[in-house]
Amino acid sequence: MSATSYLTLITAVSVFTALFAIIYQAYLASNDLRQLTVILQSMKNLEQAFPVNKPRVAIGYGSCSDLYVRAVDFLNFTSSLEKSLHQTTLNVNDITTEDEFLQSFAYYFQRGAAAERYTANKDLFQKLVRQAKKSSKAEPRWALGGNAPVIGSRLATEGAEVMLAAKMSSKLKSHLRPDIHLTGSLIDDDDIHLILEYKTGDEWGTMRTPRANRYILHNDHHNPFISSLEELELALPGFDPHLFVVSGLQMMDNYVYEGGVREERIEKVRNQIQAQSTDTLIHFEMASFVELQLLQLLLKNIVPYSDSIGMNEQELDNLRQVLETGKISLVADSNPRVAQSLDQARYVFGKINEDFFQSHLTDTRRRMLSRIHLHTLAYQAILVAKDSKWNNTKNAAAKASLTAHRHVCASPIVNPDASYRLLDDSFATSTQSGAARIPFSELEPVSCWNETIAINGLKRLDVEICVAPVLICKVAKQTAGAGDNISGAGLILQI
Ligand SMILES: *[C@@H]1O[C@H](CO)[C@@H](O)[C@H](O)[C@H]1NC(C)=O
Ligand SMILES: *[C@@H]1O[C@H](CO)[C@@H](O)[C@H](O)[C@H]1NC(C)=O
Ligand SMILES: *[C@@H]1O[C@H](CO)[C@@H](O)[C@H](O)[C@H]1NC(C)=O
Ligand SMILES: *[C@@H]1O[C@H](CO)[C@@H](O)[C@H](O)[C@H]1NC(C)=O
Repeated sequence: MSATSYLTLITAVSVFTALFAIIYQAYLASNDLRQLTVILQSMKNLEQAFPVNKPRVAIGYGSCSDLYVRAVDFLNFTSSLEKSLHQTTLNVNDITTEDEFLQSFAYYFQRGAAAERYTANKDLFQKLVRQAKKSSKAEPRWALGGNAPVIGSRLATEGAEVMLAAKMSSKLKSHLRPDIHLTGSLIDDDDIHLILEYKTGDEWGTMRTPRANRYILHNDHHNPFISSLEELELALPGFDPHLFVVSGLQMMDNYVYEGGVREERIEKVRNQIQAQSTDTLIHFEMASFVELQLLQLLLKNIVPYSDSIGMNEQELDNLRQVLETGKISLVADSNPRVAQSLDQARYVFGKINEDFFQSHLTDTRRRMLSRIHLHTLAYQAILVAKDSKWNNTKNAAAKASLTAHRHVCASPIVNPDASYRLLDDSFATSTQSGAARIPFSELEPVSCWNETIAINGLKRLDVEICVAPVLICKVAKQTAGAGDNISGAGLILQI
């Protein structure tokens, strides 16, 4: 073969290889798209399987005015932050200076971990809010916020009759759906939450974040006192809710109270949920807690009287660690495997119910924990005790998953082209050796199975676990409030 024909052959082969690669890529992409379309259709069928029968839901506590900014366009990276790069522990818990705030933000941003922090420094907070409002580059925008109003809005949108415990200004109230019964009185100044949002791969100075998430800074003065509790109490008689949702208690985190005021307020919440009929299901929406003492108060006063808890992967890891070791976990893997998360959920379920079986004979108002909803980026997992009142776990997992996409993409339509899936083609149900592997099926995307969880030698409980993949929004528009919308969406189909 002559040199030239040899070259021609090489050229022909490379052209062919390139063409093949392009076609193969296109084939893979179209195959992906076809798969996502099938998954979407199956999940929509589950979501719409039956009509919602207008349940009554009471939701506490509080509200705020959310100020959103794009974190990397708002915060100035300074070279002094280099030292916090790859720092394994966060040394600042109290945020009192701007430097501490930036260090705290940097810590979570690098890990793509959701965080919610209080600062007692009112001047610093007000300065940041003023700067945020002015920073057109960071695209500031306002919205009605707070866990209770967001969960309430989602439930009302889905057809529930909602009673909301919150105090807000008339301006903020104008953003609330008119069909929600607001029990709190009007106030002059709303608590503000500064929400620093970032997208997957966002760069800030020398740092890059692995996933889209948000960091929330606040300086609340109404919410830490759960000031809407008494007015809800007055409105409850006769409402007879099917579901009572407790949320917003993280606003008590790190706040400095006088005397035993915090304990007193938490005990009031406990009394309020204890007073509910046994036909009313109680759901507690967890949140980001950094103060061990507060979490222990909640484990003593709120969790034992709740039927259900909802949380994200950070909050589950924290709760599991506090129950197991008595220590707070500040940050966890922002994209944990199913096996690992479910082991944590089983541990929490076992531990809390161990306590229940030891004390329910002496404290008859105690409730068995019968539901855990875990929301993560890649999947939704719901664990429900058999013979409990929670229905339709599979449908709820599908709805929660679709809501995650809709919220983050800020669009009511789930577009397969705007989505990707992180959940693997099969997943193990536990990290224990010999655990079952569940193959992922496009036609049956929500996997449910039955198992038995041992409650420390005392008892065994049968549960159903459902895992739904999330069709993750490729270009995140909003992450704050996702957990609340998702929790609300999961609850509506189960009551
Ligand atoms: C960042 O720097 C700019 C220019 O100096 C300033 O106007 C802005 O207020 C700073 N932003 C923050 C959050 O400190
Ligand atoms: C989640 O709730 C907020 C507040 O009600 C709302 O603005 C947002 O659109 C909701 N997300 C979805 C997916 O409806
Ligand atoms: C789980 O148990 C229920 C009965 O409680 C049954 O209807 C269902 O088919 C079981 N699911 C699986 C996957 O075996
Ligand atoms: C669950 O479903 C059963 C049977 O369909 C129904 O009787 C019950 O009221 C439902 N439970 C709740 C809490 O809605």
